[in-house]
Amino acid sequence: MISLTFVLNGKTTTIETPPDRRVIDLLREDFSLTAAKEGCGTGECGACTILVDGESRLSCLMLAAQLEGRSITTVEGLEGETNRAGRIQAAFIRHGAVQCGFCTPGMVLAVSDLLDRESMPDRERIRQGINGNLCRCTGYQKIVDAVEAVVSEIRGRAKEQNT
Ligand code: FES
Ligand code: FES
Repeated sequence: MISLTFVLNGKTTTIETPPDRRVIDLLREDFSLTAAKEGCGTGECGACTILVDGESRLSCLMLAAQLEGRSITTVEGLEGETNRAGRIQAAFIRHGAVQCGFCTPGMVLAVSDLLDRESMPDRERIRQGINGNLCRCTGYQKIVDAVEAVVSEIRGRAKEQNT
């Protein structure tokens, strides 16, 4: 067992755990944070995506020992409608980009990471930004529509601020 201290959804947390425990198991079993899903378990589907220091990472491929000193965000830790992540989730619902919902938490975090790196991605860049996240239901069109709507909102706000 090792003792680890990290920030989980904004709260400093210390735990004792075997160092080789997978982060997805830790989140789901010890913290009841079940938004991150296990799809493939081998780094191919993106359903287990979390943010580590603000960047999207696959929690099925991360081991507990890698959490020390990091800041971890899951969809449960995203704030509501007022922030960008809340707007992404709202746009997904508005545009019918959520069907079974299995891919949605990972998708939302991947989009959040993309928009941190690029504030105005076009459709092609949006597609590239989510290409590590598989969705078996929507055919991606509605997801890209939803993200495009968020980008338009951001663009509209930036215009308002500059006028
Ligand atoms: S469960 Fe982690 S990438 Fe599929
Ligand atoms: S909504 Fe079902 S896998 Fe994406």
